[in-house]
Amino acid sequence: MKILIIGSGGREHALAWKIAQSPLVARVYGAPGNPGIASLDKGACVSLAVDDFAGIKAFVEEKDIDLTVVGPEDPLTKGLVDYLEEGGDRAFGPSAGAAQLEASKAFAKAFMERHHIPTAAWAEFNDPSEAAAYVREKGAPIVIKADGLAAGKGVTVAMDVETALRAIDEAMVQQAFGSAGSRVVVEEFMAGEEASILAFCDGKTVVPMASSQDHKAAFDGDKGPNTGGMGAYSPAPVVTAEMERRILEEVLQPVVRGMAEEGNPYKGILYAGLMITEEGPRVVEFNVRFGDPETQVVLPRMKTDLVPVLLACCEGRLDGERIEYHDTPCVTVVMASGGYPGSYAKGKAISGIAAAEEETGVSVFQAGTRAEGGALLTNGGRVLNVTATGDALPETIAKAYRAVGKISFDGAHYRTDIGGKALRRIGL
Ligand code: AMP
Ligand code: GLY
Repeated sequence: MKILIIGSGGREHALAWKIAQSPLVARVYGAPGNPGIASLDKGACVSLAVDDFAGIKAFVEEKDIDLTVVGPEDPLTKGLVDYLEEGGDRAFGPSAGAAQLEASKAFAKAFMERHHIPTAAWAEFNDPSEAAAYVREKGAPIVIKADGLAAGKGVTVAMDVETALRAIDEAMVQQAFGSAGSRVVVEEFMAGEEASILAFCDGKTVVPMASSQDHKAAFDGDKGPNTGGMGAYSPAPVVTAEMERRILEEVLQPVVRGMAEEGNPYKGILYAGLMITEEGPRVVEFNVRFGDPETQVVLPRMKTDLVPVLLACCEGRLDGERIEYHDTPCVTVVMASGGYPGSYAKGKAISGIAAAEEETGVSVFQAGTRAEGGALLTNGGRVLNVTATGDALPETIAKAYRAVGKISFDGAHYRTDIGGKALRRIGL
């Protein structure tokens, strides 16, 4: 088979790496992909933008691609899967209608209310003075979210009213997130520990993958601004077997049932960002795709061939699939450009990836990189995902950081406490 992956980040490199391990697969293409995907034995890249639907379709037909897997939310919400399927091509991911679960927080919130899915109380506003009045009435802590897609950066968890009012002003008056912030959602603050559950869906059946936990804040100790994710580990000890059962019954199954009832059957990956509270799981957000960097720690633990599972999702026969994971943990540390998530320089030379990968169980997934004349250069905020599998969590964390220590580029920034919360939870 020939498989095309849409996207260019660490998530897409990890997907290509896992898909390339399948004996069913002869070739994996990335559009536009990245140098990490190009360097896989079966890998190649094609210079196509993720929103160049006509170009993607022409490539699918020219190369006789058997399956297109869409990584990022943007082409999903714009209907890439609908577009390919209408032309008779097989694509993994939700339709534009189903992708509203991520594209509009207001849609997601109203959907959860209709289907009694536990989440924070909320209100939406198109007018900044009404939003501010509501915040003054409710008090802090309180959470302010730009309604549209803002690359994970449109959220402010405000511990005081001043910060909340500033966030409303930034989003609605100064339009820091463009049109994504013209409407804001104001949410009740939920106390607890976060976890991510990615689940395979085929329109009617939902099968959760192994749990994971992202680290969204830029700096150690969960300090600093929110980012796309600075590191992750799997499994997340906060998701016990009992919690996993509750997540399936109280969140995942109601979503898939509800979306089908409302005429938007959900196919692809449903990503539930959860707060594990004292009362149980509550939804922070839904994403309609594989998480980044969660994918980089879940796929290395997956024993089963991913390709038949993706096909089963596309063909509505997921309930026959058995999906197994290794018991051992996986940890990824994001090496970012200095300044990220704010402005940062590009074009810094990267060295040491090969040396880092010499240790068994280490894989470096590339995100913001570009190749130029045999050199590898930084080309984005999140540059590399340095990933390790090992026997126990403490040594796996140490292994990941040993690998990080072998890699360098000017201004590299990374958190030094990835996995720390899991160690504390298991009493180490
Ligand atoms: P989101 O983009 O909605 O996932 O929000 C980004 C981050 O803000 C989440 O990962 C949480 O850490 C935090 N957050 C969002 N909503 C809430 C909430 N209602 N209560 C507490 N923390 C939240
Ligand atoms: N890791 C957060 C996300 O993929 O949105």
